[in-house]
Amino acid sequence: MSAKLSGDVYYPSEEVLSKAHIKNWDELSKKATEDYEGFWEERANELNWFKKWDKVIDDSNKPFYKWFTGAQTNISYNCLDRHVKTERRNKLALIWEGENGDFETMSYYRLHKETCKFANILKSMGVEKGDRVTIYMGRTPEIVIAMLACARVGAIHSVVYGGFSVEALHERIEDSQSKVLIVSDGAYQRGKIVPLKEIADEALQRAGGIEHVIVIKRTGQDVNMEFGRDMWYHELANLPIANQSCALEIMDAEDPLFILYTSGTTGKPKAILHTHGGYQVGTYTTLKYVFDIHEEDRYWCAADPGWITGHSYIVYGPLLNGATSFLYEGAPNYPYPNRWWSMIENYGINILYTAPTAIRGLMRFGDAWINRHDLSSLKLLGSVGEPINPEAWKWYHKVVGNEKCPIMDTWWQTETGMFMITPMPCVPLKPGTGTRPFPGIEMDILDDDGKPVGANEEGYLVIKTPWPSMIRTIYGDPDRYVNQYWSKYPGVYLTGDSAKRDEDGYIWVIGRVDDVIKVSGYRLGTAEIESALVSHQAVAEAAAIGIPDDVKGNVIYSYVILRAGVEGTDELKEELRQHVGYEVGPIAKPASVKFVEKLPKTRSGKIMRRVLKAEEMGEDPGNLSTLED
Ligand code: PRX
Repeated sequence: MSAKLSGDVYYPSEEVLSKAHIKNWDELSKKATEDYEGFWEERANELNWFKKWDKVIDDSNKPFYKWFTGAQTNISYNCLDRHVKTERRNKLALIWEGENGDFETMSYYRLHKETCKFANILKSMGVEKGDRVTIYMGRTPEIVIAMLACARVGAIHSVVYGGFSVEALHERIEDSQSKVLIVSDGAYQRGKIVPLKEIADEALQRAGGIEHVIVIKRTGQDVNMEFGRDMWYHELANLPIANQSCALEIMDAEDPLFILYTSGTTGKPKAILHTHGGYQVGTYTTLKYVFDIHEEDRYWCAADPGWITGHSYIVYGPLLNGATSFLYEGAPNYPYPNRWWSMIENYGINILYTAPTAIRGLMRFGDAWINRHDLSSLKLLGSVGEPINPEAWKWYHKVVGNEKCPIMDTWWQTETGMFMITPMPCVPLKPGTGTRPFPGIEMDILDDDGKPVGANEEGYLVIKTPWPSMIRTIYGDPDRYVNQYWSKYPGVYLTGDSAKRDEDGYIWVIGRVDDVIKVSGYRLGTAEIESALVSHQAVAEAAAIGIPDDVKGNVIYSYVILRAGVEGTDELKEELRQHVGYEVGPIAKPASVKFVEKLPKTRSGKIMRRVLKAEEMGEDPGNLSTLED
């Protein structure tokens, strides 16, 4: 970009430019725009395929787009087998540190073997291509191995974030109709053990369908093992079935790789489906170009494998690139606020990818914790999950990155599978924007009638071109896929976010315009929180909204109508908070519970959350013509 940009701009340094894979964004963008299919075909050719495609994009049944149709592949081959055949076989694929100080490294060679072992165990349990396997674990190497093993045998993994709890897990097991559950006994978090197996036992009492439970020993406390159903992984791994070589399943490019549940506009969480072929091309390419992956890098994405960021950029993207990835089990400030910085120093991590909430949380502790550590290994930083406020951006840039690390503010979603609005190291940055769409991808900001809004005007953020790692459908509910994403503006993908575009074409994402609340970057639906509240015997009706918060981005406020005769005490408020924590997970606990007599509703009975929010924030509630009363 040659013209001078407006506002607060950070231009790339000569040093950054000299090393970058992509030195000229405009050139790449022009190439990708002029021959979109050719661009992605070239990227796909960097990976291995057992059979090449007949077509790059098949749009004969929109919006059910297909990519690389006719091709055969298996993402686990590209993550492992491909590297094991080269000098990368001895390279570290994973460096892991447990919160309690445990430590492990794993070469590509060993990760391949461990994956084969796990895959053979799955096979011995009768897991076949297309079967669903639920994974519920903390951040340890075994979660990566379990995911790759599923991919290897053609099973569809459904990872449930280890911070979710009983009802969230139950719902996801049941909806996916998984027949195997992989769980660890527990996970260390802030010095305590999260009893994952115990939570899973409770969820399994509510859910049917699971035939086998594979239990991985991590924390070592006594857990209930149900005879005939539950088996220790380390015992299975010593049996002859756990052979270290395992032929992989040949997958069509469009065969499912995983489902991942995420909160949507209404109702239950939905299972976003991704496939082997397009997903590998999208995640491989975006990580390579945006985080500028080189052989010598030690890359750390501090997300959890249980969310899309972990799927795409802890597990698949880095392994597809043959990168060395760091994984950390626990809390950022345990036992002290320098934990992250000491690990960056110890392991010489040079790329750090995290969320604004973590940055703001660590910023709170002051610079002294960080200044005690030598972070000179860092060359690149990343941000994801919610808009980053310029103050946090600048702290991240100055104090963490020592003013030499460009910040890749990447906007994307569970549904997009890969970065969609993102800079690259060669792109001039402005704090608070992910700059422009990835080369070739067309995005826009529309008003209610579908007309593009003017510069600096707010509107609905949409995507106009298909992309390789796009959501294929909502598993088991294709109508909902069409309704939710493709019906407001036919032929155009609705992101659910609002945004503005400035005079330089940079997109500034503002936030969700639907009933999704981002708490510490985690995506929650008002419906999940409300149904957890209503499942308590004292509650007749409930509403939940997000209220802005300096550290977490948003916190949850809830409004509860009690059943007749129940007294609204402070103890009950706390009990309701704990109840939501138990049912959905600690991240979903409301910061505030208020007892009310009535909830604002439309005449058709829909809760008007914006009225609650306006009242809470002392703002004008806007148009109230649809309010029932
Ligand atoms: O609102 C946007 C916000 O996170 C939503 C997607 O959440 P999820 O599917 O959980 O995926 C999060 C990680 C990819 C988006 O609709 N979001 C994500 N990244 C950004 C963001 N908002 C602003 N800036 C970002 N960089």
